[in-house]
Amino acid sequence: MSRPFDPQRFAVVDLIRRKRDGGSWSADEARWIIEAYTAGFVADEQMSALAMAVFFRGMSAEELDPWTRAMIDSGVRLDYSGLGRPTVDKHSTGGVGDKITLILTPLVAACGVAVPQLSGRGLGHTGGTLDKLESILGWRGDLSADEVRRQLVEVGGAIVAAGPELAPADRKLYALRDVTGTVESIPLIASSIMSKKIAEGTGALVLDVKVGSGAFMKDTVDARELARTMVRIGTGAGVRTVALLSDMSTPLGWTAGNALEVAEAVEVLAGGGPADVVDLTLALAREMLATVGIDADPAEALASGRAMDRWRRIIRAQGGDPEAPLPTALETEVVTAPADGIVERLDAMAVGLAAWHLGAGRVRKEDDVQAAAGVELHAKPGDVVRAGQPLLTLHTDTPERFAAARGALEGGIGIAPPGTTVVTTPLILGRVA
Ligand code: URA
Repeated sequence: MSRPFDPQRFAVVDLIRRKRDGGSWSADEARWIIEAYTAGFVADEQMSALAMAVFFRGMSAEELDPWTRAMIDSGVRLDYSGLGRPTVDKHSTGGVGDKITLILTPLVAACGVAVPQLSGRGLGHTGGTLDKLESILGWRGDLSADEVRRQLVEVGGAIVAAGPELAPADRKLYALRDVTGTVESIPLIASSIMSKKIAEGTGALVLDVKVGSGAFMKDTVDARELARTMVRIGTGAGVRTVALLSDMSTPLGWTAGNALEVAEAVEVLAGGGPADVVDLTLALAREMLATVGIDADPAEALASGRAMDRWRRIIRAQGGDPEAPLPTALETEVVTAPADGIVERLDAMAVGLAAWHLGAGRVRKEDDVQAAAGVELHAKPGDVVRAGQPLLTLHTDTPERFAAARGALEGGIGIAPPGTTVVTTPLILGRVA
């Protein structure tokens, strides 16, 4: 049993200096830092220094595990035992055009598993599932824990915002990291994501760790390390955890933006849609079903329309009208190919930033997003294009934003001369279990 929290037990300045100089913390010290910060005994400026020291020096498993446990213990840990079916959730580390959750949740629910899908809002160039779904008339994601449980029993899936009771230490620390340049740290990302996912009460978890220009992790070495760290934390906490590494050098599918992505997700649920979105959804669905030992074929659930039925039920259960027309932008502008050739690069970060400039994302947490803003792609790396052919369509309600979006795309599109062999990156780059 852990001892009661004592604010005087350690001197935070000593802990900052030790990490800064390459030393390590004991398990008690790591746990105490989170408890003391959450309780207000460690000030924001001290925690900023600690986070920056971790950014440069990292954390060992002996430090990170008690640190993460303290983050979980800062709030409630939900429990879905007694639902009558296993629970599994999926988490993506964030990308451009990543609408997989919208399809995966009803798909896996249609295969007999309960999916308590905890989701977030977009910040910066990556989109957020809650923002996407809010482009559906009436839909809401702020369900109480009781409402989530009831929906899991009745419908099998729920897509919800993390309530304030789940890992509040992470909420406070993430806000600080966001403004102190300390987000991109493997131990800090791993503890942040896993504390929320473990507290949420899922029995199993499949992680989609993105790799490439549009992701936190720019190369597979770092992505694999992040995946290993999260799998270790999840497994250690009794949550069966598996990770796939997937490409995020170019956007997923043909759209980036809230309503545009919902429309594309519905196309996939109707049996069509882009091959990369279908392939990644099915790969993640198979992993999710395997983690809970369910022998079902997600491709059949998609093709038969069972996943689409489940989608409609989930949307309706959360107040949305799945038949209502999605918002469309007041203005569009087309970006054309500058020359004949083969698309060798359509950079995910550039497209994500363009969508953000068009109004799909927010600058501050409290900003509104434009439901209809975003980028539609007409070509992907490896495609042959002719000069003047449409490459992208930009969508916004506020046309004064077109210039900034075009600026963000500069340098993000590469056309190789006709006849060049363009090697495209495989969609799935690895698996960690
Ligand atoms: N998402 C999170 O929840 N936390 C991070 O640190 C990064 C991405």
